[in-house]
Amino acid sequence: MPLPEVETHLLGGTANRGLVVRVGDTVRRPLRPSSLATHALLEHLERVGFEGAPRLLGIDSQGREVLSYLRGETVTTPYPDWSMTDEALDSVARLLRAYHEAVADFRPVGLEWAEPVPSAYVTGLISHNDPNLDNVVFRNGVAVALIDFDLAGPGSPLWDVATAVRLWAPLRPDADIHDVRRGRSFTRLRRFADAYGLTDPDRLRLVDAAADNHIWCMAYVRHGAESGHPWFHQRWTTGESELTNRTNTWFEQHADDLRRALL
Ligand SMILES: Nc1ncnc2c1ncn2[C@@H]1O[C@H](COP(=O)(O)OP(=O)(O)OP(=O)(O)O)[C@@H](O)[C@H]1O
Ligand SMILES: [Mg+2]
Repeated sequence: MPLPEVETHLLGGTANRGLVVRVGDTVRRPLRPSSLATHALLEHLERVGFEGAPRLLGIDSQGREVLSYLRGETVTTPYPDWSMTDEALDSVARLLRAYHEAVADFRPVGLEWAEPVPSAYVTGLISHNDPNLDNVVFRNGVAVALIDFDLAGPGSPLWDVATAVRLWAPLRPDADIHDVRRGRSFTRLRRFADAYGLTDPDRLRLVDAAADNHIWCMAYVRHGAESGHPWFHQRWTTGESELTNRTNTWFEQHADDLRRALL
């Protein structure tokens, strides 16, 4: 009789905390109403040979999605210094660009995606919509894969770049940056846009997109908290609500300087 498979919890995220496990070379995650759509996306990425995403392997006997486990490191606070270097940042930008190229000709119809993004940022491309720090797998300090496509859906390259710079630069008051990135937000914003190869029209819209992205994302967290999601509730009530207000004000005060940093 085969030995029972050992399940190891994979912590790091918020939305599915405690529900994501590793079993051998696979990861098991809960299904969602949008899983059919997400799975079609993962299958597209496999078809075009994109290595920077997990493979969909099926659904297990407990009704969870089965994905390939990607070797490497993901980061959580306190962030290791190697993950906060400019070289790591460049590699995240290049990975995001590679994802956008791989997904460019995926034009699904009739699928139910997760949270819609603001219509001003919808071009038709299926963006990842959550390239935050714990959704990137690194190997030897280089970003090699995006994971957690739960929020993917119709959006745009600009929307993903906005999310990524907001969290990776990061874009927030210096006093709220507690690692080696403090004092370097403007430099890293510029650097990310350059490493990504952002188009001129998108460059002109990036600061507004990041401010809008912050509002959208925090509304999502707040809604989760108010609906009783334990981990979103914990985040929101232990400082994130106040940080959101400070960051909104910071965006208003620094928008022109941020725009100049991109010229
Ligand atoms: N395919 C994978 N390969 C390797 N590690 C993975 C994989 N999927 C998830 N993980 C690990 O599990 C952690 C949590 O997974 P995941 O991002 O799916 O959780 P989540 O709660 O949905 O996250 P979020 O709050 O970002 O939505 C990740 O940070 C990563 O360390
Ligand atoms: Mg995650």
